[in-house]
Amino acid sequence: MKTTRIEHIGIAVKDLDSSIRFYEELLGLRCQSIEEVSEQKVRTAIFKLGETKIELLESTDEDGPIGKFVKNKGEGIHHIAFEVDDLGSALDELSGKNIRLIGEEPYKGAEGFDIIFLHPKSTGGVLIEICGRPA
Ligand code: CO
Repeated sequence: MKTTRIEHIGIAVKDLDSSIRFYEELLGLRCQSIEEVSEQKVRTAIFKLGETKIELLESTDEDGPIGKFVKNKGEGIHHIAFEVDDLGSALDELSGKNIRLIGEEPYKGAEGFDIIFLHPKSTGGVLIEICGRPA
């Protein structure tokens, strides 16, 4: 598998608007887009910083993955997303190595990426998102 960069770091927040203000005012970042990702039941705000991004995630459904995360663990770092040059071959390689995926198939994440998550039980406790640009 060829991993090209850390695409983003996903951070679960309770209130997207006040978190956007925090990142803009405290760190001087600028929010470049806000997008709803229905598959994940979230609203995301994206801040670009050099080669990578910060992705804030606010749940739109308390039973969704971010809703449950915030309820159980509170706000905080949720996942790290790695971009790969070829998502299909990355998936073949991961399943060949018995890495547990969350869901069976990649789906559309923010910014049109095809994404899939690896289960933290297979990755040393880190929720890892693998993402690729659509062919
Ligand atoms: Co993400």
